[in-house]
Amino acid sequence: MTGAIAYISRDSDGPPWKAVLEAGLGPVDFRPLGALGRLEDIEVALAWKPPPGLIATFPNLKLIVSLGMGVDHLLADDRLPAGVPIVRIMDEGLVGQMSEYALFWALRHHRDIDKYAASQRARRWRPEPFVDTLHRRVGVMGLGAIGQDVARKFALLGFPVAGWSRTPRTLDGIEVFAGRDRLGTFLGRSDILVDVLPLTRDTRGLLDAAAFAALPRGAYFINIARGGHVVDEALLAALDSGQLAGAALDVANTEPLPADHPFWTHDRIALTPHIAGATNPRTASPAVIENIRRRRAGLPLLHQVDPQAGY
Ligand code: GLV
Repeated sequence: MTGAIAYISRDSDGPPWKAVLEAGLGPVDFRPLGALGRLEDIEVALAWKPPPGLIATFPNLKLIVSLGMGVDHLLADDRLPAGVPIVRIMDEGLVGQMSEYALFWALRHHRDIDKYAASQRARRWRPEPFVDTLHRRVGVMGLGAIGQDVARKFALLGFPVAGWSRTPRTLDGIEVFAGRDRLGTFLGRSDILVDVLPLTRDTRGLLDAAAFAALPRGAYFINIARGGHVVDEALLAALDSGQLAGAALDVANTEPLPADHPFWTHDRIALTPHIAGATNPRTASPAVIENIRRRRAGLPLLHQVDPQAGY
């Protein structure tokens, strides 16, 4: 079994993937979207937001690799071949970028940088009252590889950090709240909330009016996960009432965000176009190569997705 590798993505980083895969596997028959050739030849599909139904047309497919750490873009395709295992990339480079992004916005909020920028514009030399790091509680929703890295890095800076996850777990120095029953308590102690959850049927719309109301007044929200967790109207209402001091959003319910969406112009929203963490073929490829080898040898796979759980 050494068939072709299909690269299914509308992004333009196909050629670097061919090079990094060949460095580990030797010459590969690499087929980008638009030049897939004979579909019978395709053994492995590397995919990011594949056109629904396309993967089902590869009759000899043995492995699906999600080019994102999130797999909602794949599982949205209800015609995925049931017996073909799905693995997701596990990219240290991407994980580090996600943490950087969360730290950047959290520290900008924590140190009142926007207020000082306004003071500078007004030629006003005025120290602001500050909140001590020990009293700025950070809450990280989702404790997978990214959430753990985010939580650990905030804790290193001295913030009290808690995490929320579906199932209980133990993490050094991080208070863990598990399950839906504990969500309200977790939110109630999160002055800065960082969303790193996967998008599943359990997490869609989780951040609604009740969730924002459960946060301490003046909390700050950072979404580096998926826009589908957020009820947009509830977020806007929480910002407008002052319940939330601000939000940094890297993701949206609809991407690209439509031109007439209120997020674009809201003065308490910082918006970026899903760039918090980019998949880097150099750092993501070792595990992909290992998984292709393992699949060929019939060995257990790394980072395999449970389609029922949705991650
Ligand atoms: C990006 O959003 C990813 O899932 O890796």
